[in-house]
Amino acid sequence: MAAGKGTRLKSKHPKVLHEIGGKPVLAHVIATAEKVVPAQDIFVIIGHEAERVREAVASTGVNFVLQAEQRGTGHALMAAREALSGNKLSGNKYDQVIVLSGDAPLITAETIRKLSDFHATQNATMTLLSADLDNPYGYGRVIRKGRQAEVQAIVEEKSATPQQKKIREINSGFYAFSGRDLYEHIDRLSTENPHGEYYLTDMARIFSRAHKKVVAIKTSDAGEVLGSNTRAEIMVLDVRLRLAKCRQLLEEGVTIFYPHTCVIDPDVEVGADTVIEPFVQLLGHTKIGADCRIRSYSVIGNSVIGDRVTVRPGTIMEDARVGAGAVLGPYSHLRPGSDVGEGAHVGNFVETKKIKLGKGSKANHLTYLGDAEIGEGVNIGAGTITCNYDGVNKHKTIIEDGAFIGSDSTLVAPVRIGRGAYVAAASCITDDVPEDALALGRARQSVKEGWARAKREAQKEKRLEKDGQLGREA
Ligand code: UD1
Ligand code: CA
Repeated sequence: MAAGKGTRLKSKHPKVLHEIGGKPVLAHVIATAEKVVPAQDIFVIIGHEAERVREAVASTGVNFVLQAEQRGTGHALMAAREALSGNKLSGNKYDQVIVLSGDAPLITAETIRKLSDFHATQNATMTLLSADLDNPYGYGRVIRKGRQAEVQAIVEEKSATPQQKKIREINSGFYAFSGRDLYEHIDRLSTENPHGEYYLTDMARIFSRAHKKVVAIKTSDAGEVLGSNTRAEIMVLDVRLRLAKCRQLLEEGVTIFYPHTCVIDPDVEVGADTVIEPFVQLLGHTKIGADCRIRSYSVIGNSVIGDRVTVRPGTIMEDARVGAGAVLGPYSHLRPGSDVGEGAHVGNFVETKKIKLGKGSKANHLTYLGDAEIGEGVNIGAGTITCNYDGVNKHKTIIEDGAFIGSDSTLVAPVRIGRGAYVAAASCITDDVPEDALALGRARQSVKEGWARAKREAQKEKRLEKDGQLGREA
């Protein structure tokens, strides 16, 4: 179920697209569902901002059911009737229907399987997953029949009596149903409740009255069923997920100082003996090798870093590749398509985009390298700039192995610097430089001996003259 608006978030974005761990909450639920059943057996009920939600998770290959008007969780299942029950001729498509809440992203495949198995072995009509919460406020409460597994009803917060509000066992919003029974009885739902909605939870009372078996199974980890109805709840989920990720990495041999200050997405991989300093963000599908050091304030997204790489503080990377033993930062900015070779150095305030920097090459200070192919053992002096853009098109700069680019050079692309060539500092290079040549692209220096002294003396004379004048006038 993912059709609701999420009023309590006070957001223009649908609730299920709010993110935890760098991914929409709904994407987490779908990924978990896919571990239990194949994508073609998953139906996502969408409604509020349906197209946006569909687009966000379409790549998973799941089916979509449109609940055009959102009149409650029971109504959501009514909208799925055709998709789930097939037609009269072929009979029921599914004898067991598992219902997941699109806004409770920490559920695990293991728990869903337990729910499904319990439902089957109990021969139940409806099985709900419950949990004991210290603070059950806001959740539906489970009313058991005496002390057994069987359930009489679920009472929503707003309809609960003060006595019922004290019950700590809550309805998690995850269920298993007998498909046939569900659709034979679902039309008995009514909207006679404080929200005027069709509550799926009312099926418990309906089945119980029809002498159908309704049971509940409790999760061992109540944290798994927490929902994301408010911003505060979403932050709680995000922290849980990220701390769990840090714990996994620590277990795999990664050192993380002050893990609660780091933001590490669930799909990130890090090799053993890599050290992650405080306030580091590792995002998306980033992969970091072994024996690296990622220093503070670095933000690394969807990048692949080899072994023994040092990332100094404040380095920003997106869609970049870095070879083993390279040294980056402090304050380097590697934009998409940057490919830094083994042992290469990219230093302070160097920005790169769509470049290949060969093995052992160095660009250590204040440089922009864009759309460039740079060979091995190249030295790029401080302040070098590839002028890759003419206002309309981007052009390429090629710097061959062993070339030396003097500081403050501008390389106006398209241009090629030949193997072993030398570009004098402060050159503006507009033409190709052949192999082993020296290119000078600057005005020659001229020197006027004694000029500065003469100027100073002239000024001094003027001043004395003025003072004398003032003295006479006084
Ligand atoms: C629901 C349960 C409550 C339970 C809680 C657990 C009901 C009536 N209440 O309350 O007992 O403790 O979950 O988290 O079911 N949705 C639709 N279509 C709709 C309405 C909702 O698809 O018309 C979807 C929402 O997008 C959401 C899920 O159903 O993903 C649950 O709806 P929500 O409004 O969050 O229910 P709760 O108030 O949390
Ligand atoms: Ca909810």
